Amino acid sequence: MKSAIIVFSPSGNTIQVGELLKVALEQNSINTQLINIAGKENYFLTEDKQVFLQEIVKEHDILFIGSPVYAHHLQYHVKDLIVSLPKPVNGWGKIAVPFITYGGINSGIALDEAGKLLRKSGRKVLAGLKVSSSHRMTRAFMKEEYNKNQPEDKTISFIEELIKRVKSVDMNSINDCSKHLKYQNIKMYLKAKIIFREKVWHEKRYPKVVIDNDKCIKCGKCINVCPVCHLKQNNDKSIERNINTQCIHCFNCILKCPLKAISPIGDLEKAKSFIESMIKKAKEDPGTCLYPKI
Ligand SMILES: Cc1cc2nc3c(=O)[nH]c(=O)nc-3n(C[C@H](O)[C@H](O)[C@H](O)COP(=O)(O)O)c2cc1C
Ligand code: SF4
Ligand code: SF4
Repeated sequence: MKSAIIVFSPSGNTIQVGELLKVALEQNSINTQLINIAGKENYFLTEDKQVFLQEIVKEHDILFIGSPVYAHHLQYHVKDLIVSLPKPVNGWGKIAVPFITYGGINSGIALDEAGKLLRKSGRKVLAGLKVSSSHRMTRAFMKEEYNKNQPEDKTISFIEELIKRVKSVDMNSINDCSKHLKYQNIKMYLKAKIIFREKVWHEKRYPKVVIDNDKCIKCGKCINVCPVCHLKQNNDKSIERNINTQCIHCFNCILKCPLKAISPIGDLEKAKSFIESMIKKAKEDPGTCLYPKI
């Protein structure tokens, strides 16, 4: 059996789970290819994502898709990625498993969104994994990153259970389990759909990332960490925004800049108190889980 894992991991948590999964699959003799589309120009700067996917993804029987949760949703680039997947024929596996990482506040409806899109792409969803991780956004404007140092053993034990399911699957009659990824109540669905509108929040709500050209020493470090290739360097090495891809507020560039020439601008106090109020209400239990539940 062969597998492919495609993740979009802007700031490292999701690829870490992808790596654990790859190790565990290979220990079980399942040959695995792991791809992180973050920072890939030939993915983000092309209209035809499917051509990129067809060129890069090797033949497999089972496809894993990993995404962070942004504003209670499956990050929108991962939605686009699933929609761009070729049909599950000619070396593209019929079985799919989505997995998400989230910052311990609320995983929202991301896993269900991934399951539905994968089913719509013609695949059967075997299971779905959610992993409670550090909240990467809180690095930029809180004293301490929220929910960091989550135990890896818990994730590994769910991955082991997932691999048991993969190994016992009957390729001729695969049960689609996507309905089991709908673990939130109706209130959460309404909240995610009506209030937490990820794309709109990127445009209007999240603090804007601003570059101070007087401080910038043109080192280019920010460009290398931008997961969506939104930053580019001109011939004179000054930094410019690429209008073809929008900033997704991962805040990697802010943390990477050695001169603090990049900062989040906006009502940071409001953003901070919003996150703090969300943290106070955070009570996702179980934090990390494999669906359908054992
Ligand atoms: C713009 C943005 C929005 C986020 N929204 C949520 C959220 O709604 N709930 C949550 O628990 N974590 C949220 N997070 C935290 C991420 O889901 C979490 O840190 C994830 O593991 C990041 O994955 P990555 O390191 O692979 O990018 C958000 C992070 C960012 C940057
Ligand atoms: S510009 Fe900065 S904050 Fe925006 S996506 Fe790129 S690295 Fe992340
Ligand atoms: S990392 Fe900072 S100093 Fe370096 S190019 Fe980017 S903005 Fe300029």
